[in-house]
Amino acid sequence: MAQDHLVVFTPSGKRGRFPEGTSVLEAARKLGADLDSVCGGRGICGRCQIAVAEGDFPKHGISSGAAHLTDWNRVEARYTDKRGALASGRRLGCQARLCGDVVIDVPPDSQVHRQVVRKAAEARDIAVDPVVRLHYVEVREPDMDDPSSDLRRLQAALAEQWGLTNTHADLPVLRILQPALRKGRWQVTVAVREGRDIVAIWPGLREKTYGVAVDIGSTTIAAHLADLATGEVLASAGIMNPQIRFGEDLMSRVSFAMLHPNGDKEMTAAVRTALDELIGAVAAEAGIERGDIVETTVVGNPIMHHLFLGLDPIELGGAPFALALDQGLSTPARDLGLAMAPGAFVYTLPCIAGHVGADTAGVVLAEAPHEQEAMTLLVDVGTNAEIVLGNRERILACSSPTGPAFEGAQVSSGQRAAPGAIERVRVDRDTLEPRFKVIGSDLWSDDPGFEDAIAGIGVNGICGSGIIEALAELFLAGVITEDGVIDKAAAERTPRVVPEGRTFSYILREGEPLIAITQGDVRAIQLAKAALHAGVKLLMDRRGGVPAERIRLAGAFGSHIDVTYAMVLGLIPDCDLHQVSSAGNAAGTGARIALLNVASRREIEQIVGKIEKIETAIEPRFQAHFVEAMAFPHKSDPYEKLRQAITLPPRSRTGGEAGPTRGRRRARLSAS
Ligand code: FES
Repeated sequence: MAQDHLVVFTPSGKRGRFPEGTSVLEAARKLGADLDSVCGGRGICGRCQIAVAEGDFPKHGISSGAAHLTDWNRVEARYTDKRGALASGRRLGCQARLCGDVVIDVPPDSQVHRQVVRKAAEARDIAVDPVVRLHYVEVREPDMDDPSSDLRRLQAALAEQWGLTNTHADLPVLRILQPALRKGRWQVTVAVREGRDIVAIWPGLREKTYGVAVDIGSTTIAAHLADLATGEVLASAGIMNPQIRFGEDLMSRVSFAMLHPNGDKEMTAAVRTALDELIGAVAAEAGIERGDIVETTVVGNPIMHHLFLGLDPIELGGAPFALALDQGLSTPARDLGLAMAPGAFVYTLPCIAGHVGADTAGVVLAEAPHEQEAMTLLVDVGTNAEIVLGNRERILACSSPTGPAFEGAQVSSGQRAAPGAIERVRVDRDTLEPRFKVIGSDLWSDDPGFEDAIAGIGVNGICGSGIIEALAELFLAGVITEDGVIDKAAAERTPRVVPEGRTFSYILREGEPLIAITQGDVRAIQLAKAALHAGVKLLMDRRGGVPAERIRLAGAFGSHIDVTYAMVLGLIPDCDLHQVSSAGNAAGTGARIALLNVASRREIEQIVGKIEKIETAIEPRFQAHFVEAMAFPHKSDPYEKLRQAITLPPRSRTGGEAGPTRGRRRARLSAS
């Protein structure tokens, strides 16, 4: 009787004994080793490539070598004739059979669950294991003596050849079934979602499918098209959210829905049309057919989420801010007006609370605070700030009404981040002279050639990150006091501090347009940052006052802001500066993770279910925290860690004339 051979797979370490003649693919499947296959071992897809490790492996008690697999066979020769040579030392795992003990190396491109390595700064790599998988099948031809439908024979083939015993196809898929089977001469590739729903069928062998990860913001919609086998992003595009014509910010869109019959439906149609165009754009950029896109994932704030799904957002416009649903949801793409594969689905991530949406769920998925030992603070600053605090023990979330000041609105020279906007500012501590950089040029304003460099751009205003730096620098230079007053004493030190009514302004740039930091600007930022900080404090209270050990700033503002300046102004609480960083577009990353890894969907649904939601509007301590947080960086918090890193001005207050809470709006949803 033939002897069993020991096979060890690396990197998984899976090992077992198999009879002589067992294919490497078969052994891998039996052991649960990670070896891919689309064609089911027919030697046509090339996804099962392996290499034999040569030499002695005392750890495994094996002497391994290429001769311990059967010789190169005709199927492999046919494959290389058609598809080109394999890399040196590679074999097709479905063809190579055991004839001795071997250590088999499964290269990353042959692993089903391959890792997409994200940037070092990001929280974790993505294991590619999409919800839709491809299965090549040979289907029995119709037979007069044994009549059965094409669907039944396809289902039988999927059951026999892939163990998928419960497959289902609905009408749009059935419409392509018969032509695909005949064109492929009864050989087709079937895209199956979660082992059940047939979403697409192609004649012959198909090796690629694609998915789109979408972030629906109130201003822009961004989409990334990814290869579902490798996780690679092949095309990205953004588009303005056409709902802007119904209202700039979220509250005005809810008002539009309230005041206009079918207003919500108009906004739903607008966002769906835009997303459908965007999907067409990324498909065209990647040079693929829309019909090859088998899945889309979507994140967005609660109002964007509801409007996209066709759910009336009116309830989100007032207390108690009830969501229609907070679970993740899979919806046929065609029901949402999106042209993709005939049976494709759209998965929307779960919302956390009435003000904390699927975009924040995306941030949580990308940043994984639930896997951290360290107390982690995630802040996504838009017109509302979404705040998440916690670690593996417990996570809390809230939203705080920061208003649009961080986006340059409510600031006298403010503008959105665009070419010509001042984004970096430095103020000389002695002379109080400023220098700055504008978006579109790498030169500082006091560098030779600056004026030439910006000739085509101009200096038009100051964006959110610029105003944060300007205020922080002016505070550090002693022009702005701890209470946020532009100090009239500074007027004696520099002609740039000029009176304006009863208050003072600082001239950042002379000329046309004149760009000044006014007392009103400082107040607008104080109100916004105090709201943000107060929200953080509420969550910290619930965690027994434990400080944040790690802070991640998400979103566009979080990506551009200098974290040191953010801390100098007290937007965020005191923390070791090395532990504060930008999370980039974490919401979009979350959508991409949900696209590429099916298990992450269950993960985020479970986490969201456990997140404790805090409603800032009804928290009695919010106002007290807010008042304390008006000061730079904070009235009572000593910011000791920050003081170890930089020199803050000595603590003294002028008790300026602008009261700390004056003009404070507690209105919600001015936008996000
Ligand atoms: S499984 Fe397709 S070529 Fe081996």
